[in-house]
Parts: sequence; structure tokens; C-alpha cells
Amino acid sequence: MIIKTILITGGAGFIGSHVVKLFVNKYPEYHIVNLDALTYAGNLENLSEIESLVNYTFVKGDITDETFISNLFDKFKFDDVIHLAAESHVDRSISDPLAFAKTNILGTMVLLQNFKRIWSDKWQGKRFYHISTDEVYGSLGETGLFTETTSYDPNSPYSASKASSDHFVRAYGETYGMPYVISNCSNNYGPNQFPEKLIPLFINNIINKKNLPVYGDGNYTRDWLYVLDHAKAIDLIFQKGKNSETYNVGGINEWKNIDLVKLLCDQMDEKLGRNKLESQGLITFVKDRPGHDLRYAIDASKINKELGWEPSVTFNEGLSKTIDWYLNNEKWLNQVTSGAYKEYYNKQYKK
Ligand code: NAD
Ligand code: DAU
Repeated sequence: MIIKTILITGGAGFIGSHVVKLFVNKYPEYHIVNLDALTYAGNLENLSEIESLVNYTFVKGDITDETFISNLFDKFKFDDVIHLAAESHVDRSISDPLAFAKTNILGTMVLLQNFKRIWSDKWQGKRFYHISTDEVYGSLGETGLFTETTSYDPNSPYSASKASSDHFVRAYGETYGMPYVISNCSNNYGPNQFPEKLIPLFINNIINKKNLPVYGDGNYTRDWLYVLDHAKAIDLIFQKGKNSETYNVGGINEWKNIDLVKLLCDQMDEKLGRNKLESQGLITFVKDRPGHDLRYAIDASKINKELGWEPSVTFNEGLSKTIDWYLNNEKWLNQVTSGAYKEYYNKQYKK
């Protein structure tokens, strides 16, 4: 028997598809409605294993379309929203910042407005869960960690739009009493990530023996988390997180880009039966990303102490599984790298 209906936005994307699969399989008593505009980053192939399950519905639609979203809320009366839909790639935000303002800020507001319209006089048992990023905190120097009380200091149009959406979620909590929770996570990697982000882009280039364009000197640092560990954290926060709280989620796994790329090259050479160090020869240092944040690193002690979450997949293991997934899913990779991807790639990397 269905006991509640949950809207998950952006469920055809990278993280969203793992979250949707986890919820649909784990909670047959929840009706999961996946709303996704199917932009270049959304792919229904990511969800083929659950598409016929009775507690799952896919709806194609844009979170910025006020009439459409209003009708959708009237139809389904969502008990909860888990909001992942976003424009998510920093480089694209540099060339097209308005698209990020539209989806990430306006789109979030349209959802908030409709959630409030439906429930504002009876919030009990409802929850708006907003998925955000550690990039809202800006850049760290060589030391220190982002905690939940670190001041917001976003540097890219992407992180500024995510920071803005976080503020609106909090404002709806303060002003209208909307029950909400926010999580800010570090860099995810794993199966189904669109090959514009560092790891899948470089996996695809290594397969095709293409240059590996490392920005600047490659000494930028990121904290990497396997996507299924993030999905588990989202489940835990949704079920047990406290209202009006923020939870930082991270891999406790910092890598300088250049060291990560070398590890990736070495693992791939072994799997592809290539000569040792062959793929490292593809590394090419290219013009830096404007406003490039030096370092991100998360203090995940709050979610660990309060909810008992910790990453379960080591980086070696996660990277190996990720490479295997891309090697075994050539059709998926070829499909998403045809057409518009080529145009994006040539423009971004000035071919
Ligand atoms: P993604 O780009 O892979 O997927 C985004 C999804 O949102 C796509 O399916 C796309 O079709 C959909 N979408 C985009 N615009 C839409 C619109 N206007 N209406 C409806 N759907 C729309 O992104 P991701 O990497 O899976 O990130 C998901 C969320 O997690 C984002 O909010 C992102 O900011 C956040 N996040 C990502 C990471 C990361 O490392 N990828 C880390 C922390 C937080
Ligand atoms: O920290 C969380 C964020 O991580 C998420 O909110 C974003 O949605 C997600 O895209 C990611 O942002 P980054 O900018 O850190 O990820 P990206 O994979 O684009 O880049 C990772 C690092 O690699 C960064 O320092 C830039 C560098 N890089 C990236 C690309 C695409 C390169 O050197 N060359 C490249 O071609």
C-alpha cells in the first residue's frame, strides 16, 4: 500500500538516477515521481531497471515552468520533495550563467512556492529536501575543512546559483515555517556521470587515446565521494535528518587533480592491457578555468555523529568500479558523446 508520494527532481541525471533507484527499490510503500526535463544531462537509460515498477512514475517537465509545476502539484499532492534538478557543470556556468540562474534559482523557487501553496497550513510530516554542493563555501587554502557553519563565499556562477537556492530554501523555512533540510556534498564520481566532468571525461578520452586536458598546473584539490555513498547519505538525511539543519557530506578523500589523473591512467592501462605509463603520455596542461577554486574538503563529522553515516567505498575500489562500468557500457557512452557533445567539447577545449 502506498503511504506517501515523493517528488524527486532531476532523477534522470547522474546522482538523481541513483537516488531514484535506491528509493523505488527500498521503499515499495512510497510512490516516487521522477520529474526531469531531460536536458543533455538527463538520460532515461539510467533508469531502465525500474521503469516498469508500480511505485515509479516518470514525468518529463521543466521546474521553471510555473503552470506545468502547479498542475503537477495539484495532481500528485507531493508529501515530500527531494530536489536535485540543476544545471551542474561549472564550465557551462562560465559560458552561460543565465541558464544557471534560471534553473537553479527560479526553478527551486517555483518548487518551493508550490510546496507552500499545497501545505502551508498543515506542514506536519512534510519535508522539502534540497541537495546542494560544497562549492557554496568557496575555496579553501592548503589547510582547513568546510563545516556546516562555514560562511558562504561562492566563486562561480554555478556555485552562486546553488548558494542562492540554498538561501531561498532556508528563507521559506524561516518565513513560512516550511520543514526543510539541506545537504552540501563534495565531488561525486561513479557510473552514469555525464562525460563533461573530470573523471568520466578523462575515462572517455583514455579509451579513445585523446589528450587529457588538465586545467592550470593540476594542483587543484577535490574531495571525491562514490555516488552510491552519496545516495545512501541522502536516504539517511531524508529519513532521520533534523528539520532546518544542514549536513555536509564528503568522501574524506582529497586528491590533487594531477595525482588523480595519473592513478586513473594507471588503472586504465592495466585494464586495457596497454603499456605501463602509456596513458599518462596523453596528459596535456591547458588554460586554467577562470575563478578556479583551489581546494574543497569536507568535515563530515556531523552526519557521522548524528546519523552514523560514513563512506563505505574506498577510492581505489570506487574508481575501479567506475572504469569497469564505462568499459562495459560502451553503448551508453557512445550515445551521450554523439551530436551536441562534440560541439560542446570542441568549443570548451578549442579544437
Ligand atoms: P546532472 O547534471 O547529472 O543532472 C541534472 C539533472 O537535472 C538532469 O537529469 C537534467 O535533465 C535535470 N534538469 C536540468 N535542468 C532541469 C529543469 N529546468 N527542469 C527539470 N529537470 C532539469 O547533475 P548531478 O551531478 O547529478 O547533480 C545533481 C544535484 O546534485 C545538483 O543539484 C547538483 O548541484 C548537486 N551536486 C552535485 C555534485 C556532483 O559532484 N555531481 C556534488 C554535490 C552536489
Ligand atoms: O564539489 C562539488 C561539485 O563538484 C558539484 O557541485 C558540481 O556539480 C560538480 O561538477 C563538481 O564540480 P567541479 O568543478 O569540482 O568538477 P569537475 O569535474 O568539473 O572538475 C574537477 C576538477 O578537475 C576541477 O579542479 C577542474 C578540473 N578539470 C576539470 C575538467 C572538466 C580539469 O583539470 N580538466 C577538465 O577538463
